[in-house]
Amino acid sequence: MKSQFPNQNQNGETSKVIYDRAVKVLTGGVSRNTIFRNPHPYYAASANGSYIKDIDGIERLDFANNMASLIHGHSHPTIINAVTSQLQKGTAFTMGSEVEVSFAELLTSRSPEFEKIRFMNSGTEAVMTMIKISRAFTGKPKIAKAEGAYHGTYDYAEMSQTANPDNWGEIDKPNAVPVVQGTPQGVMDDVIIYPFNDIERTINLLDQNADQIACVLIDPIPHRVGLFPATNEFVKAIYNWTRKHNALMVFDEVVTYRVNYSGAQKSYTAKPDLTALGKIIGGGFAIGAVAGKSEIMQVLDPRQTFLRHPHSGTFSANPISTTAGRIAMEMYDEQAVLNLNALTKIARKQIEESIKIADIPVSITGVGSMFRLHFKEKAPTSYREAYQTKETKEIINDLIDYLFFEENIIMINTCSCMFATTLTQKNVDRLSEALLNGFNLVKPKIEQLNLTL
Ligand SMILES: Cc1ncc(COP(=O)(O)O)c(C=O)c1O
Repeated sequence: MKSQFPNQNQNGETSKVIYDRAVKVLTGGVSRNTIFRNPHPYYAASANGSYIKDIDGIERLDFANNMASLIHGHSHPTIINAVTSQLQKGTAFTMGSEVEVSFAELLTSRSPEFEKIRFMNSGTEAVMTMIKISRAFTGKPKIAKAEGAYHGTYDYAEMSQTANPDNWGEIDKPNAVPVVQGTPQGVMDDVIIYPFNDIERTINLLDQNADQIACVLIDPIPHRVGLFPATNEFVKAIYNWTRKHNALMVFDEVVTYRVNYSGAQKSYTAKPDLTALGKIIGGGFAIGAVAGKSEIMQVLDPRQTFLRHPHSGTFSANPISTTAGRIAMEMYDEQAVLNLNALTKIARKQIEESIKIADIPVSITGVGSMFRLHFKEKAPTSYREAYQTKETKEIINDLIDYLFFEENIIMINTCSCMFATTLTQKNVDRLSEALLNGFNLVKPKIEQLNLTL
């Protein structure tokens, strides 16, 4: 679909020219489908704090922060200095490095649930390893995950991430819908899809597979489900069920770790056995980690005579990612978390005001330093409610394109913002003003579609 807002930049050719080269060598011209946009992606030249300049010379205010991974914005000088110094000393060794230990000490000190930790290279790898640890520990094959939740691209974890009304089936027993053509039937058979926050249905589904479930995977504030939190009752019910059935309750906090000094799990009375981490803990570099109970993490321990889960990775715990991560997380201390959450709360209030002024059916969900806009009068409480129809997606695309091309603002294409500590009140004012302009622009289309849901 061609954008309604063609490139306004006189020199816009440049990104186009690069894209013309890109399509000849990269599938679809991209290495990451997320960055694709019509008519072509734009190429970053440099970035600093909360601003990114593209190679066409346009500077934009960034509320996406590389999909929630840059908690201190771009090129933070303290991180850059530490990484530059480490670069001179080596980037990866077939040896350990002290920084992996001090970083592990820092992360385990933030959360009592993190008795032991192991590093890897991405959130996908962290979730995959967490699931494999659960199988190795319990000796059982199946997992349960929420319909619509995104956990990266491991076959089992991605099931039903893109489920739609044509294939999602009955809510009492949601279908396990593969994302990728050719996913083996065995994968579908070994994933139980549960409706997020629906205790009765979820427990019923778990009961039907009671003796085969290794773990119940929960993202406590799943972005793709709708960015609303799991209720304490839901988490408690899952926890109690797992205690009865020799299964683990595991959290994906790859995104949500940011919302609290010790992650979203701080808000729940029942705590996960294992947690997958990623994104912000890499300080802008590739990383993943699994943390949790020593007794369970022991399946990875090379000192065991019976090693249940041999685990390695060429770049795991490399000193660049761990140096950047350690500095980033040191700076993201209790006060920094509170300040960032407070600024985000102000932003939400101002955007609510813009919604009111524009008089359009938009609601906001989110926790801490992240929020998502829904083109629905009432905030959704389930994946099926939050699901965007083709028409809604079109309106959202118009708004995101308008912000990008006309207001020089970058938001995540689900209509979400993931804040960074470099953002200021002035930036927030810009966002709420720009959104008001955008809301006014898409309003006729909303009215035409009579979006009142
Ligand atoms: C909740 C969640 N888990 C896991 C992942 C996968 O992380 P990565 O992209 O680093 O593989 C993501 C990525 O967006 C995510 O949002």
